[in-house]
Amino acid sequence: MRNRRSIANAYRGKGSECTERARGRVRLKRLSLTATVALIDQNLRGEANVLRDDCRRVVDSLSIAVLVLDRRLRLLFMNAAAEALFELSFRKAYKLGLPDLLIGAEPFVKGLRHCLASGHPYIERELQLLFPAERAVTVDCTAAPLLERDPPSELLLEMRQVDWRLRINREEHILAQHHSSRALVRNLAHEIKNPLGGLRGAAQLLERELPDPALREYTGIIIGEADRLRNLVDRMLGPNQPHAYDEVSIHEIVERVCALVEAEGTPEIRIDRDYDPSIPPVWGDADRLIQAVLNVLRNAVQALDGRGAIVLRTRVQRQYTIGAKRHKLVARLDVIDDGPGIPPDQQDQIFYPMISGRPNGTGLGLSIAQNIVNQHGGLIECASRPGETVFTLLLPLGKTG
Ligand SMILES: Nc1ncnc2c1ncn2[C@@H]1O[C@H](COP(=O)(O)OP(=O)(O)OP(=O)(O)O)[C@@H](O)[C@H]1O
Ligand SMILES: [Mg+2]
Repeated sequence: MRNRRSIANAYRGKGSECTERARGRVRLKRLSLTATVALIDQNLRGEANVLRDDCRRVVDSLSIAVLVLDRRLRLLFMNAAAEALFELSFRKAYKLGLPDLLIGAEPFVKGLRHCLASGHPYIERELQLLFPAERAVTVDCTAAPLLERDPPSELLLEMRQVDWRLRINREEHILAQHHSSRALVRNLAHEIKNPLGGLRGAAQLLERELPDPALREYTGIIIGEADRLRNLVDRMLGPNQPHAYDEVSIHEIVERVCALVEAEGTPEIRIDRDYDPSIPPVWGDADRLIQAVLNVLRNAVQALDGRGAIVLRTRVQRQYTIGAKRHKLVARLDVIDDGPGIPPDQQDQIFYPMISGRPNGTGLGLSIAQNIVNQHGGLIECASRPGETVFTLLLPLGKTG
């Protein structure tokens, strides 16, 4: 009996030894499985981190501004282009309400809210946004729910700044307008001046033959009107190709023009200078450039009707495109007045010859100025609203201009 028990015990002992060993093997297996899972997890997490960093880098290198907003239009994410557009770092902007970062953007905010409520995309072209410090930016924008949830909880907002494209389009339009009006004026001038010469010559001959000196009054009228018409056509044609090219300082030109305008007596009009003294000389014809700046400044003075302020601001623009040509450096002169502005329906026409909004104006000043600046490879453009009219003269720097 004792023997049988001891044998049984012996077996039990062996049995428990076996189970222990088996348990150990399972534990070991479990351990290695956990370690493997942890390793895979770690690797996956590492890869996910790398992937996330790569995605972040890609989103940050987009030229389009990307923002994510929550239901209350608070910022949850913005890429580098969005930070540049808002002039705000994501760290500072996080959880700030988008409407608080813009001025007078109610229709835009309404569009975003509608997008959130309906789940339908919201698209806006050439949307004018006003940021603090009166910084105006034009964007094309698209908003859509980030994930397909009902109702959408996050909004993906994409914004592309289009001021540059609009400016190029506007400048190309001004140049095309100028070239076609120049061609028209040249043909018209040719057609007017030829018969006019004959008319004037015939009137002179007639005058000599007239028996009664009293009748000379009539030939005098013919000759006087023919001269007036020829002068008008000559003004419309503007100066011929500039020839006296030299290095000229834009500031000397502006100062000469100021002296001329101030000599005309406008004591209640203040002219302030805001110069960038580092602007290199322009390669051009000083006399003609004076004429161009004078025409623009005189218009500003006339618009102020005796009282107001004008600012003359000079700056350098780098890598600037005028028409289809890109220039390394361009001198920029802004003539800014706080007068009543140009009515919107006239703004598109003021560079055409014979277009005037003044009772005594011939409407040639701006067309001549545009022609002169064009001959220097540059351009004049205008932006106007009541209280602020800006005429911008752009002149390429260097002899290539
Ligand atoms: N700074 C300005 N503010 C408001 N209106 C302006 C300004 N500059 C130009 N204009 C408008 O543009 C029109 C065209 O100007 P432009 O210089 O070509 O002709 P003008 O001044 O009428 O005549 P002129 O041939 O004697 O210069 C002006 O008549 C005026 O209505
Ligand atoms: Mg004028």
